[in-house]
Amino acid sequence: MKGLILSGGKGTRLRPLTYTGAKQLVPVANKPVLFYVIEDLVEAGVTDLGIVVGDTGDQIREAVGDGSRFGARVTYIQQEAPLGIAHGIKISRDFLGDDRFVLFLGDNFIRDGIVPFVEAFQDDSLNAQILLYKVPNPEALGVAVLDERGNVVRLVEKPKEFVSDLAVIGIYMFDHHVWEAVNAIKPSKRGELEITDTIQYLVDKGLNVKASMVHGWWIDTGKMSDILEANRLVLDTFETRILGEVDANSEVYNKVVVERGARIVNSIIRGPAIIGEETQIVNSYIGPFTSIYHHCLIQDAEIEHSVVLENCRIVDIDQRIEDSLIGRNVEITRSPLKPRAYKLMLGDHSKVGLIGNGR
Ligand code: DAU
Repeated sequence: MKGLILSGGKGTRLRPLTYTGAKQLVPVANKPVLFYVIEDLVEAGVTDLGIVVGDTGDQIREAVGDGSRFGARVTYIQQEAPLGIAHGIKISRDFLGDDRFVLFLGDNFIRDGIVPFVEAFQDDSLNAQILLYKVPNPEALGVAVLDERGNVVRLVEKPKEFVSDLAVIGIYMFDHHVWEAVNAIKPSKRGELEITDTIQYLVDKGLNVKASMVHGWWIDTGKMSDILEANRLVLDTFETRILGEVDANSEVYNKVVVERGARIVNSIIRGPAIIGEETQIVNSYIGPFTSIYHHCLIQDAEIEHSVVLENCRIVDIDQRIEDSLIGRNVEITRSPLKPRAYKLMLGDHSKVGLIGNGR
């Protein structure tokens, strides 16, 4: 079985981070979401992988390489524009041939991996398999309607009115019948070739589409709150591992990972938390559910329940930073100049929450 990962798209809900970076490379517990996807596929024995990339293709290629360090072989497929998930399948025809394959959206995150689902799909009588997860926000996703025997009857993309709370998550399995489907469907109102229309086509043709429930958690890491949630869930599974330096004036407790080359000086790290390679934490407090990526400096500052990407400098801040997602190369420092004021240089679509005057 082959694997096809979709790692193009626009990532509008994660702006401004996605103006410059691929959303699939945003780290969760200091590892890009896309790496978890690749590892899930490899764990299920799927090692021949195609990755569909768009504008951020160079970053994805640089991060993943030829796939050998994951035990996989990766072929890149360039998508000229994000014309839909089914379009991503369509342009991967040469790579996939007539093989059965797993399609995995590069921003989807599943706790327990995909091994049992891939095993179930070894059964040749199945033409497709979709995975369902009960959600409180079906209007933001594709959903499936089942009959009383659990057969898939209808799929609706981002339903305006309630039809089902069973989201069709971004992990699908197909056999060669998918080619007829992706060639037959037409772009939707939003101009995309939809994956839900593809599956609906297979259902309408009477093909064998199995729906399986996912019981552990699943997250589509499309928005900041989803990244923070995924980060929280993964950090909580960590064991303490100190590879860097922690000086005698520092306290580190409860599931803390300090990576190689990191230095903790006169600081408190209360886990679950991870401090990336070559990052320095000086005279600071890092609170639970925080991931600080590599080559950062956090000095005289307090951060909790946040994700900080690489090369950031957060220095001399007297208010605690919480619930934040901070992009690459960001500087947050005290302004040395009078008048006393916030001095901001923020990218388009940035969001800043300032503390009001007692209000
Ligand atoms: O996460 C599950 C949901 O994913 C499903 O429930 C929906 O049925 C499905 O349409 C999809 O919805 P999203 O709105 O979340 O899709 P998004 O545009 O975020 O794209 C998902 C991934 O696929 C993302 O990593 C970007 C990539 N992609 C997307 C499109 C449209 C591409 O590589 N090329 C594309 O043309």
